[in-house]
Amino acid sequence: MRIFLDTASMDEIRAGVRLGVVSGVTTNPSLMARESGVDFGETIRAICDLVRGPVSAEVTAPDAEGMVAQAREIARWSEYVVVKVPITAEGLAAISVLADEGIPTNATLIFSANQALLAALAGAAYVSPFVGRLDDINHDGMQVVVETAEIFERHDLDTQIIAASIRHPLHVTQAALAGAHIATVPYKVLMQMIQHPLTDRGIERFLADWAKFIG
Ligand code: E4P
Repeated sequence: MRIFLDTASMDEIRAGVRLGVVSGVTTNPSLMARESGVDFGETIRAICDLVRGPVSAEVTAPDAEGMVAQAREIARWSEYVVVKVPITAEGLAAISVLADEGIPTNATLIFSANQALLAALAGAAYVSPFVGRLDDINHDGMQVVVETAEIFERHDLDTQIIAASIRHPLHVTQAALAGAHIATVPYKVLMQMIQHPLTDRGIERFLADWAKFIG
């Protein structure tokens, strides 16, 4: 199980990498839009240099030809780049061309195990089921991770599952137990994962006792 950061913020990535637990990053057009005034290519290159692990950057063309052209350009930016492609018919066609060319892809906007299966068969290196967005509409988002993990395991598919659209620490635990290979988490959730009130209280007590001990 690995943890990726779901952000395009260099500050957050720097802080996450410093902890030694972040081995990749996922971005999307909405996350890029939060970083005002930055250049897409330069930002992705800088993230790759910092993380030295898989960094997802998303295509925006509607058709397979356009996606492949964008993906080839994005793939030139760094050896660490993974091209994010939405799971549509055009996206599948693009994933299959890119797989033949050795360009790793992350099939995004996955909301069902069937979509994940198709992406894996087309040759995606990663699939990203969006857990939180399903929860938001009163569906059990984690069930897609559970089913996808079972299908991939049972049929020996080596596509990795990135549990995405993670809203809180419990999602990470559930994704890990379900067999996701990776959870991509907002920086805030990474910080929440570290916290426990008994840890804080324990430190306070140890420090108070230590002060007594050393007089
Ligand atoms: C990551 O690959 C996804 O783009 C991201 O997790 C989506 O999260 P959201 O549903 O919070 O936008």
